[in-house]
Amino acid sequence: MGANAPDDASLSSTPPTTIVLGSQWGDEGKGKITNLLAERADLVARFQGGANAGHTVVIGEQTLILHQVPSGITSKGAMNVIGNGCVIDLIGLADEIRELREAGVEVSPDNLMLSSKAHLVTPVHRLIDGLRGGRIGTTGRGIGPCYSDKARRTGIRAESALDGTLTERYEKQVQECREVLETWHAGEVDDVEVALSSDALVEAAAEIAPYIGDAAETISKAYQAGKSVLYEGAQGTFLDIDHGTYPFVTSSNTTIGGAFTGTGVFIEFGRRIGIVKAYTTRVGNGPFPTELTNDLGVKIRERGHEYGATTGRPRRCGWLDLDLVRRATIANGFNEIALTKLDVLSMLDSIDVALSYDPEGRPEYRTLQGWATPIDDVRKFDDLPELCRAYVTFIEEQIGVPARTVSVGPERDQTIIREG
Ligand code: IMP
Repeated sequence: MGANAPDDASLSSTPPTTIVLGSQWGDEGKGKITNLLAERADLVARFQGGANAGHTVVIGEQTLILHQVPSGITSKGAMNVIGNGCVIDLIGLADEIRELREAGVEVSPDNLMLSSKAHLVTPVHRLIDGLRGGRIGTTGRGIGPCYSDKARRTGIRAESALDGTLTERYEKQVQECREVLETWHAGEVDDVEVALSSDALVEAAAEIAPYIGDAAETISKAYQAGKSVLYEGAQGTFLDIDHGTYPFVTSSNTTIGGAFTGTGVFIEFGRRIGIVKAYTTRVGNGPFPTELTNDLGVKIRERGHEYGATTGRPRRCGWLDLDLVRRATIANGFNEIALTKLDVLSMLDSIDVALSYDPEGRPEYRTLQGWATPIDDVRKFDDLPELCRAYVTFIEEQIGVPARTVSVGPERDQTIIREG
């Protein structure tokens, strides 16, 4: 167990293997729940995505946003693994490690490992994403172009930082990129030489080299030894490249299958936790049937501080869509959910919840009565207003999975954990 694990009995029954996944379009509040669980974990792994994720951690007086480092990094004694399914921006990773150290967090190859098979996001990928990601509304972090190169067999794995082939492989990417720029984007980039320079990449590769290793072996050993293993998903089910609202998706499998291909280890997860926000948000473009484009949507955004952690973009807000969450439960085999940001709905007299769609694809709603009273200070489920409990119970009944955790505010202690 991580040395600074909390001693609340409610979490002590945690089985050794847990996976946390988003059930909507990301930003469900995975960060807070993952942070709580990471305090008890011996090993925390990420298996997909890259710097498109944003995960806020509070260290003393400081607030940092982790983009690539797993959230067990602040738990003493926990190992953090970035799996082969991730795409890693070495320059960004070196910066994150530096910031963590400045905040007093120990980071070394003893508590952080990058899979030698993870693919590298290069300056070429970031440049191309900036030029071409607009239609989807990507985070601009080079994620799509990097996964494209991986699939085209022109990608660069982290291991090339160890075997001396990085510069040569990167030069090939640059050459191809120049052709793409000349053909399709002539004159669009101010200083191509600066944008594509390999200097920062090579420098970061030297810094990160000691962290690169056999991630599957490390995870497997911990699992076999019965250690507490936590897998941390990024984004959400409907941003999954296969199961999401294609083409308005990210480029990886955000659903549970990604955990296996993205680490190379089979794990029987005892807890499969779907994070469900009490309403729905989406950043970037793409369908959002329950979106509220009126004042209420703005009100929810302000109350819920719904601005992207990675890009700062305002998130689109709308009603909870239980048809989506039900499908996410099927895709991921959730055996419990964590319902987050329930407090944000406390201002409402009535709350709509989508249950299905009509033949034209319009959501069909059930209107529930709101509880219209603050719940931020409530710590026991039975102390929640009756109408609020009814909202939670309705969700559980509709998706057939218990809400074992209910979050009523951003702070660690604003969490209701129900046994059984
Ligand atoms: P990309 O992952 O940067 O390629 O962006 C593809 C789509 O996924 C865009 O709509 C992004 O806004 C969305 N996206 C990527 N990462 C996140 C996330 O962590 N939270 C929410 N949306 C995300």
